[in-house]
Amino acid sequence: MCGIVGYVGKSQALSLVIDGLRKLEYRGYDSAGIALAPDLQPENLENKLWVEKKAGKLSNLESQLTGEIPNAHSAIGHTRWATHGGPTDLNAHPHLDNEGKLAVIHNGIIENYLDLRKELEAKGHKFTSQTDTESVAHLLSDARKAHHGDLAAAMREICGKLRGSFTLLAIHADDPSRIVGARRNSPLVVGAGEGENFLASDVSAFISQTKRAIELGQDEVAEITADSIEVTNLKGEKLPLKEYEISWNAQAAERGGYEHFMLKEIFEQPKAISDTLIGRLGKEGKVIENNIDLKNISKVVIVACGTAYHAGLVGKYAMETWAHLPVDVELASEYRYREPYADEKTLVVAISQSGETMDTLMALRYAKSQGAKIVAICNTQGASIAREADAIVYTHAGPEIAVASTKAFETQIIAIYLLALQLAKVNQTISPELIAELEYEIESLPNKVEQILETVEPLRELTRKFKDANSMLFLGRHVGYPTVLEGALKLKELAYMHAEGFAGGELKHGPIALIDNGTPVVAIMPPANSIIAEKMASNIQEVKARGAVIIQIGDHKLASADHYIHIPTSPEFLQPVLAVVPLQVIAYEMAVARGNDVDQPRNLAKSVTVE
Ligand code: F6R
Repeated sequence: MCGIVGYVGKSQALSLVIDGLRKLEYRGYDSAGIALAPDLQPENLENKLWVEKKAGKLSNLESQLTGEIPNAHSAIGHTRWATHGGPTDLNAHPHLDNEGKLAVIHNGIIENYLDLRKELEAKGHKFTSQTDTESVAHLLSDARKAHHGDLAAAMREICGKLRGSFTLLAIHADDPSRIVGARRNSPLVVGAGEGENFLASDVSAFISQTKRAIELGQDEVAEITADSIEVTNLKGEKLPLKEYEISWNAQAAERGGYEHFMLKEIFEQPKAISDTLIGRLGKEGKVIENNIDLKNISKVVIVACGTAYHAGLVGKYAMETWAHLPVDVELASEYRYREPYADEKTLVVAISQSGETMDTLMALRYAKSQGAKIVAICNTQGASIAREADAIVYTHAGPEIAVASTKAFETQIIAIYLLALQLAKVNQTISPELIAELEYEIESLPNKVEQILETVEPLRELTRKFKDANSMLFLGRHVGYPTVLEGALKLKELAYMHAEGFAGGELKHGPIALIDNGTPVVAIMPPANSIIAEKMASNIQEVKARGAVIIQIGDHKLASADHYIHIPTSPEFLQPVLAVVPLQVIAYEMAVARGNDVDQPRNLAKSVTVE
């Protein structure tokens, strides 16, 4: 939710900040804006910041950047996912104080903004937008004056007055060589360069300039100039810099010849799975980064949202069977407000690609406060969820730019299989022979995904035939059930089409009434040796008899299938890794056929840092 970039250094700030915003646009694309602190003040600016902002995508802002733009070596920029105030030019960030000298950009929600606004208006501040952020600009402006121009001290003071979640960046025209940032429950990372430094929502904004990053903790304030980085807590105490090397490369965040990031990411899945497996299989394999006692666990609770939740549902089937533990899978947004029971024998697994999803983070904190042990499955190094967990299993999917998750989902499932096998090893719940067999099968998954990807062309053609359908239904059983939930979610978010996933056995309890002549139904058939294979075949017959057009996914074709998509054979528990690939392709192709924006679907954002 909202992308934030700040730059101070030797180069022209405008192009670097715009370039950073382009990389962060997946975080929000309702409006974009930039504030430059000019090196020399043009006469008409009267010592103010140069600001441009525009509703719509970043390209709208870029087309506005014509005419005379002052030279500037420091700037902040923002791309927005609207929460308070619609996506208009006026509500776009940056927001300014009344003198036009101080600019603020923000990601998150300031919960007490109305109270602050009333107080500030009573003091004579004039507001021009409906946003929560504008209150921060006015508040910070007053605090800076009280601190005799010290922007960092002012930031520390106002953070104490703000409720909610925020990443904030601020710049002042009278001190153009400095940018100050702060974070609480929203991401912010420093990029450390040579003669230049960055502040951004995530490393993809500056990875083409520097691979050195510095993590910022909760309630920390960072102050950057071209040659210095200082991090303090809200008391003003200087903190040691936690620097790390970014392992992703800049090309990984580019489209590399593919029409869309999503298609590129679908094709990157074999590599993402292989990378996630490296060093984690066999006797010497190490699954979890930190040591955590996996004995004496009486229950596992998986918390996640959206696609990550579906990965958790797949994990439940494997973990219950392999590790002989009761496993609950909870939507993080429901879990945290239910006050569920958890104790030191509860293992909570928080799954998140971004590592910043607010609902998942809050669920994690709740479970931690009850004494539970927390393992994070996370794709983003140094993200809040990874930092606050007791132990981490990093997925190595690389940067996922398309808003709809694909390769991250695959690696989340792999990570949860690995965790389930780790629990099985520690608690000796299945034989070493079975573990070795499962590991062998898991290792063969990248190859099998590759085989599916080599034969997707006919599926793309087939998908286009259904482009005018009103609805598409998905059927699965056992691990095929969470897989079809994921297929339906993908289709909804990308094709804006009614789609639902059902458990085959549930059809007769109501959903079968939806089936009409010509309704396309995508069905996942388990491997022939599954005890539910026959049951699933009957469920497919039931919908076929009522007029459905059957698009069957599986390793053997049923006579009832109107269209058949072949996937290689694998043990039933591992089948979701293969079966989801055609579902992703269907959603992708349907979005293209319907003329939708594949990488940035309407109303969505990649990293959901608000509740
Ligand atoms: C759907 C999708 C979302 C995310 C969800 C959780 O394609 O990407 O449903 O899975 O918002 O995000 P993370 O994994 O970052 O916590």
